[in-house]
Amino acid sequence: MQVMTSKIPQAGFSEACELNKVPILRILRTAFAECADVLEVGSGTGQHALYFSEHLPHLFWQPSDTGDYLKGLRARVDHSDLANLKITLELDVRMPSWPVEQVSGIFTANSLHFMAEKSVQELFRGVGEVLEAGGILFVYGPFRYHAEFTSESNARFDQWLKQTDPVRGIRDFEWVNELAIKQGLDLQSDTAMPANNQALVWQLAP
Ligand SMILES: C[S@@+](CC[C@H](N)C(=O)[O-])C[C@H]1O[C@@H](n2cnc3c(N)ncnc32)[C@H](O)[C@@H]1O
Repeated sequence: MQVMTSKIPQAGFSEACELNKVPILRILRTAFAECADVLEVGSGTGQHALYFSEHLPHLFWQPSDTGDYLKGLRARVDHSDLANLKITLELDVRMPSWPVEQVSGIFTANSLHFMAEKSVQELFRGVGEVLEAGGILFVYGPFRYHAEFTSESNARFDQWLKQTDPVRGIRDFEWVNELAIKQGLDLQSDTAMPANNQALVWQLAP
């Protein structure tokens, strides 16, 4: 039985997650069809973790986060009784060695523009270390293509991000894809999503 998101003490709530979880699930049903265990990096409020673990019962979902999000994430995950949702893990992508076993899938949403470029590089280093051969990396969020924003609202969002912290910002798809290629990942699909976001799916060479 699911507990209503907004009634969980200490747990935050993201309206964006409620809006994007259905279109994201459509992509994940195919992308993670062969995955047995998925690590989520930067789970935030945990709404995605609950929803995707409930709707993808063939796999185990490992939520994780660091810093301010961790307490609320733990609260939401602990209120769930989903058998395939694992206990929250503390994971900062900058950790020299990620405290996880090998996984067949990695998911992260709206995180690359919230961390410094150096941390994005660390994220891909970690992915290269913990993703099994043939495994899938799914990344959701806004990107620039050929140094252009995909919308005016994304350009304004980028300015807002940089005001909150100068190291933040919407990433260039080409730069991110280069980081992926360096880890042996091959882009499988790039799907335009609602609200000017992209769903990117890479596979590690088998
Ligand atoms: C905008 S929130 C997105 C949360 C959630 N994935 C969502 O879609 O609503 C950005 C997330 O990136 C995470 N994050 C930022 N820096 C990180 C780091 N160095 N290691 C791991 N996660 C990080 C934050 O803690 C937060 O959960």
